[in-house]
Amino acid sequence: MENIKKVLTKNPKVKPDQKHLGFGDYFTDHMFIMDYTEGKGWHDPRIVPYAPLSIDPAAMVLHYGQAIFEGMKAYHTEDGRVLLFRPRKNMERVNISNDRLCIPQIDVDYCVECIKELIKVEKDWIPTEPGTSLYIRPFIIATDPHLGVRPANTYQFIVILSPVGAYYKEGINPVKIYVEPFYVRAVKGGIGFAKTPGNYAASLKAQVEAKEKGYTQVLWLDGVEKKYIEEVGTMNVFFVIGDEVLTPSLEGSILAGITRMSTIELLKSLGLKVTERRITIQEIIDANKNGTLKEAFGTGTAAVISPIGELYMDGTVIPINEGKIGPLSKKIYDTITGIQSGKIEDTFHWTTLVE
Ligand code: COI
Repeated sequence: MENIKKVLTKNPKVKPDQKHLGFGDYFTDHMFIMDYTEGKGWHDPRIVPYAPLSIDPAAMVLHYGQAIFEGMKAYHTEDGRVLLFRPRKNMERVNISNDRLCIPQIDVDYCVECIKELIKVEKDWIPTEPGTSLYIRPFIIATDPHLGVRPANTYQFIVILSPVGAYYKEGINPVKIYVEPFYVRAVKGGIGFAKTPGNYAASLKAQVEAKEKGYTQVLWLDGVEKKYIEEVGTMNVFFVIGDEVLTPSLEGSILAGITRMSTIELLKSLGLKVTERRITIQEIIDANKNGTLKEAFGTGTAAVISPIGELYMDGTVIPINEGKIGPLSKKIYDTITGIQSGKIEDTFHWTTLVE
């Protein structure tokens, strides 16, 4: 594979206060770019100063949304190492999304190496405060200047980096979630399983309306019967009912989250019963009524583990664990963030050393 060209900035930015990072507001000094041209493949990998892109106003991504993205994180350990969490899984998912969006495949291992190279250049940007990390946003856009609807022949694979704190202002405190009765996010056969901007654009209206009612995110129900639980805004979702942990099965309309996969592996290793299946919202309402609904939490790269303290559906408030973080959510949060940040021994071999 081609060597990565490096052009370093002459004007490094002032770094933000690590105590007030929020999510996705600050960007580092450099970015990675690689081009794709039909007949030539991916070429010209380069690390260059972070700057606005120059793309044609007719670039196909701007008109028909042919694009995919990923979310990953790099962590600074207390002993000075830099770790990535299961980066191959993200790059493998790029190819799943690419396939659905008719974007050419990437070389998984090469792209992991490119990301590592970018992080080495930006090492000083990885925050060290508890609960912070360097969020990695790889994305691919279709760049042909063309207005006919067809897959593009040229693309750019870009990686930008953002030092972040908690995704939700609630942090590890439970969030309130609105069960969406009207809008739907995806249907089987659509693009729900792909990490592509259209899914997020489709979610905005419901998110805005839920916020106006005082809820942090929406819980999506299936697009056909509005009966089965799908996922929460930017997270997969888990319910602890009795001594079983339930999460919706991957049926083609929800994202196959890497934190979801890791949570399932972790729960199983703890000897817990984890079931992936279709779950109706009625089951959750019933479990709340009969007292067996113990905990609910969301999982995602940006959100990590986010306990759910309340669901609202059709005029009914469903309180969960009295609005407090439950013991299992806390255990999963502590273990996954502990492994990610190098505080807990990684017996699963999930982390990869950058340097
Ligand atoms: C992530 O968890 O990394 C995501 O991609 C969610 C995001 C849209 C903020």
